[in-house]
Amino acid sequence: MISTLYSPKFITKYNRNINHLFNRYEIAPESTENLNAICTKEEINVDLLADLINCYNDLGFLKKAKFGNYKIPELVDYLERSHKYYLEKRIPELEQSLLKLTQQESFSFNYVLINFFKEYKKDIVSHFKTEDEILFPFCKVLYNYMQFNTQEDLIFVLENQKKAFELMKHHKDNKDEIDDLQRVLLKYSPNGKKLSYFEIFLNQMSIFQQDLKIHAEIEENVLMKKTIAILNNLEIKNV
Ligand SMILES: [Fe+2]
Ligand SMILES: [Fe+2]
Repeated sequence: MISTLYSPKFITKYNRNINHLFNRYEIAPESTENLNAICTKEEINVDLLADLINCYNDLGFLKKAKFGNYKIPELVDYLERSHKYYLEKRIPELEQSLLKLTQQESFSFNYVLINFFKEYKKDIVSHFKTEDEILFPFCKVLYNYMQFNTQEDLIFVLENQKKAFELMKHHKDNKDEIDDLQRVLLKYSPNGKKLSYFEIFLNQMSIFQQDLKIHAEIEENVLMKKTIAILNNLEIKNV
């Protein structure tokens, strides 16, 4: 288990994939300061960061971590940072590998894969957009309303709860799309001896998939449950 006394340098030496997580919190992966000191300075909840690191390190930790203990704004902050990171870094990296793949080998399969990925990207981008524009602002205002009880926040909650409810009801975590993609990929085995861009793409895709699993778990089973529980307690649901 990762302790908050460890430094990013130590943690990333042990597992390079954690770099992705530090990047989205704008923490230098080569820093030798311990997590406690960094998080105090940057006003990040160190326990949340440590739980996330442990999940990225071992997906089995996802069932053990108590993400329900964290505040709605902290959870939303992680989810928003992740969306931004997926759009700006992960997806372009995958596209880059696909482009290199077609330059390396011009099999028709590669063009099928590119078209499949285009569709996948379209779906995932619109999924993130609705969450960024509807769900997350709603969760944050609801949390503020619980803290400060202002009329303005109550009006926002009442006006937007129907849209937010619909979104939560129909939320899917892109598992379907990923599963389809995985099925297509498994049918194809690269025949080159050297490390092909296809293998690089597969590896990037599997890291991304793991990331999305953690993301969806926090979104669906923590944030949405918390939000629905607050609304039920407030008894303003379906007003
Ligand atoms: Fe999301
Ligand atoms: Fe989602």
